[in-house]
Amino acid sequence: MIKHLLSIDQLSPSQIELVLKTADSFREVGTRTIKKVPILRGRTVCNLFFESSTRTRISFELAAKRLSADVINFTGDARSSLAKGESFKDTAQTLQAMGVDAIVVRHSSAGAPHRLSRWVEASVINAGDGAHEHPTQALLDLYSIREHFPSFDGLRVGIVGDILHSRVARSDVAALTKMGSQVTLVAPPTLIPPAIDSWGAEISYDLEEVLPKLDVVYLLRVQKERQNEQLVPSLREYATFWGLDRRRVDLMKPEAIIMHPGPMNRGVEIAADVADLERSIIIDQVTNGVAVRMSLLYLMLGAADRALEEVPVG
Ligand code: CP
Repeated sequence: MIKHLLSIDQLSPSQIELVLKTADSFREVGTRTIKKVPILRGRTVCNLFFESSTRTRISFELAAKRLSADVINFTGDARSSLAKGESFKDTAQTLQAMGVDAIVVRHSSAGAPHRLSRWVEASVINAGDGAHEHPTQALLDLYSIREHFPSFDGLRVGIVGDILHSRVARSDVAALTKMGSQVTLVAPPTLIPPAIDSWGAEISYDLEEVLPKLDVVYLLRVQKERQNEQLVPSLREYATFWGLDRRRVDLMKPEAIIMHPGPMNRGVEIAADVADLERSIIIDQVTNGVAVRMSLLYLMLGAADRALEEVPVG
């Protein structure tokens, strides 16, 4: 398995299959009364989050703890020496000097995990870097889709909304097309990135025309915090033209599912009642995130020389 996970591009389809298959075992661990296995006892995982997060940070913490690793949670806030002007590089090397085995990093700057991986011996996992990539989100999304469809091959997935600012969209398109799915990006022209032709996805500006063809409708959060200019006239107008409401759900195939990486803007990209429909698997994505992150930590730190069957998960 790879040492660092910085981008979905690093993983072959068979490596992705291995991560998902391994996550099946850890999904089962999460249903037990005692949700802990001794696989990473004595190893240390540092969560280094310079941007806000609920799902990714907590699920990485839970994943590491369920594997019996020690966990350090570090945020670049006023209590750390970053507030005294310490650099990212010196912070990383300080953590390395204390013997951490893996650093899970979220940063507002695209490429920050790549830089970090050159400064430390520890494995580096990208937990979201600017508008660039969010590879573990893509893996948990694949895992969640796989619970509903027998194969990724030929599956039609629509990713709807703020593609321009979305690291999730970039990683999901890379992962889904690698696995043989057809992806259509659906957004207003102002929220489509300029270099979109290299992504390998189709583009549509008409949500209602696309909806009946899709197996998966993946809604993106409108990232108000990353919009320096007015790219949509108003959130109300966005909801009117691009939001998934009950009327639009009725245009979908009966077996099609609804996904969202969270956090949601209920009433903007997704109507409040649509988020709670049975075909909406947003909460399952969160549950699966723990199992997929356990799988990654296990494969990257604990099991390079061992098959899963040899590890005491029972
Ligand atoms: N999906 C996701 O990355 O959510 P958080 O920002 O809460 O981690």
